[in-house]
Amino acid sequence: MKNVVIKTELLCKSFISDGEVNNVIKNLDLEIYEGDFTVIMGSSGSGKSTLLYNLSGMDDVTTGKVYFEGIDITRMKEKEISRLRKERLGFVFQGINLIPNLNVYENILSPTYKTKAQRREIEGKIDSLLERMELTSHRKKFPNQMSGGQKQRAAICRALINNPKILFADEPTGALNSSQGENVLDIFTTINNEGQSVVMVTHDLKAALRGNRIIYLKDGRIDGELNLEQYDKITASDREEVLYKFLKERGW
Ligand SMILES: Nc1ncnc2c1ncn2[C@@H]1O[C@H](COP(=O)(O)OP(=O)(O)OP(=O)(O)O)[C@@H](O)[C@H]1O
Ligand SMILES: [Mg+2]
Repeated sequence: MKNVVIKTELLCKSFISDGEVNNVIKNLDLEIYEGDFTVIMGSSGSGKSTLLYNLSGMDDVTTGKVYFEGIDITRMKEKEISRLRKERLGFVFQGINLIPNLNVYENILSPTYKTKAQRREIEGKIDSLLERMELTSHRKKFPNQMSGGQKQRAAICRALINNPKILFADEPTGALNSSQGENVLDIFTTINNEGQSVVMVTHDLKAALRGNRIIYLKDGRIDGELNLEQYDKITASDREEVLYKFLKERGW
């Protein structure tokens, strides 16, 4: 049995625009398991990003509960939740990229606590992350001096600096060319193999195949899930076929 890291109960999220209520997430019950590489798919506007924001405490729920390791984060005060986000969760969100006036090194350092005792340890960790992401020679560069792939890798370093319990990623390969995308996905696969839980939203079939569990969202509800682990023994192209069929059946 896998441990549950995040659990939602009757999660609802609505937005009001032009005086109209838009119910985006509807009574959603979901469990995310420790060590899983969970992939969230669904058509544009189905609520994937909204769900990710709610799961990670980046945005308030309208009603319902979100538990992180059994603790209800919907009842947390802003200070507590921001501390939780900073210390326990990592984010790689397309669009929310790096802080423009900080260089790569400073960006990665930004979510850490800089007490003297921790400083040396953190510096060592940044060095090893930079090396791993092949960014060592870019450490002093500012975001506008780097390619999309380099920026995305720097954002991953920043997301990983505090050893988060869960890494959340929203379309992490969306803005990258295919080799840059593969590179980012290889990093996710590696950290997941090391035990890190990953929750990723993607439109990309190849990216989704990195996961072991696919959740399909339709109009703010779960419209099925696919356990890819049971297909471990079949070939990669057959796995792709299984996933494609699962998605097609849901109108993807
Ligand atoms: N801050 C907001 N204010 C008002 N409406 C919002 C807000 N954020 C999202 N929505 C609405 O919620 C719905 C779901 O949006 P969301 O971004 O979650 O979709 P998505 O599944 O991530 O789509 P995509 O695949 O295009 O990224 C959309 O109708 C969107 O207009
Ligand atoms: Mg989205």
